[in-house]
Parts: sequence; structure tokens; C-alpha cells
Amino acid sequence: MIPVLTIDGPSGAGKGTVSRAIAKRLGWHYLDSGSIYRALGIACLQQNVDPKNIKTVIKVAQTIKLAFDCTDELKVALNGLDITAKLATEKTAGIASAIAVIPEVRAVLLQKQKDFQQLPGLVADGRDMGTVVFITANHKVYLTASVKIRARRRYKQLIEKGIDANLSQIIQEIQARDKRDTERVTAPLIVAKNALYLDSSDLSITQVIEKILNFIH
Ligand code: C5P
Repeated sequence: MIPVLTIDGPSGAGKGTVSRAIAKRLGWHYLDSGSIYRALGIACLQQNVDPKNIKTVIKVAQTIKLAFDCTDELKVALNGLDITAKLATEKTAGIASAIAVIPEVRAVLLQKQKDFQQLPGLVADGRDMGTVVFITANHKVYLTASVKIRARRRYKQLIEKGIDANLSQIIQEIQARDKRDTERVTAPLIVAKNALYLDSSDLSITQVIEKILNFIH
């Protein structure tokens, strides 16, 4: 069985940075499952598809072609065109979270995520990695932090990328996404059984990485 480490948690908990670093340390592959939902969101925006128009969103999900390059920084191509620059925006995050509540969309995207389970191993980051997609994963982590801390981190990330940002607006958007992600019927964000629960509010990235590496060893 190809080993899998799942790292689930809400937006801005530091999952991306931590997962990428651990994948690099272990020499494993890395799945940023949020980027799949974000890419579908971008496809819907490009095709003027309203997320409420469920049938059309499902059709878009069935037809999109995604390519990932995780060698260094994650790069994503949608239907052959690089969309990396659009992935991180709050607009993309909002539409991703809106379409992620559609069970049929989640079902269509399931195999695309499972395909990442390749030797020598996989670090999978998302909301339902340990509870749905890789339910038999060897190691499961739930990484969280307070809303304020997560919003501040997201704000800093956006500013560093040269994207315009407003802190109080980010707090509201994060709260709305948390609510949608935890209250949805299909694959809600919950702590997986036997998961290591980590609150990173008062921890550095290095401390979080060390705690997870200790846990899996
Ligand atoms: O992790 P990220 O912020 O990139 O995810 C964007 C949105 O995609 C989340 O708010 C969530 O609604 C959705 N998502 C999901 N399941 C995953 C990963 C992301 O529903 N495994």
C-alpha cells in the first residue's frame, strides 16, 4: 500500500506550507486538493457559469483538463492554460467553496485526487483527505488556528503576492468559508478518527513540521 499522510483543516491554518515542506523532507508527492476546487471555480468564472446552476457546474467538472506541476512552487494548467496566478485570489476561494458543497462535483473530482497516490508516498492537503478521499491513510493530521491568526496569515500571503487585500474583509470571508465547509452535508470539514489535532496559533511553521514528523515516525 502506498503510504499517505493527510493534513486537513480550515483555510489559512498553514496546511499548504507545512504539507509542501513535509513532502519535500520525505521525498513524497504532494496533493493540494483545494487547488482542484479552485481550478474548477476558475473554469466556471471563465465560462460565466453561476455556482447555483448545479447541472452546468457538474458538466464543467466532467470536462475540465487539469495538469499539475509540483516540482517547486505549485503550477496549475486548466485546459492547457496556466492559471497559477489566479489560484490564490479570494474571489477564486469563494467560488471554490460554493461549488465544493455540490455532492456530484465532489464525486467527479474524487478520482482526480486519488490519482495522486503514487510511490514512494503522498502528502494530501485539504478538508476531507483523511475522512473521505484517503480514508485508509496511514497518518492523519488536523491542523487549525484561530480565525484572527488565519486571516492575518492570509492577508500577509496575498500582500506578498502583490494581490490587494483587506484584513476585516478576509476575516469575514474566512468565517463564511469555515461555516460552509463545516456545515455542508457531503464531506464536511471534521477531525478524522485517530488524527493528530494541532492548533498552530502559537506555533511556528518549523514547530508544526517537527510535531508532524515526530507523529509519523
Ligand atoms: O484549501 P483551499 O483554501 O485552497 O480550498 C478552497 C476551497 O475548496 C475550500 O474553502 C473548500 O470549500 C474547498 N475544498 C474542499 N475539499 C478539499 C479542499 C478544498 O471542499 N479537500
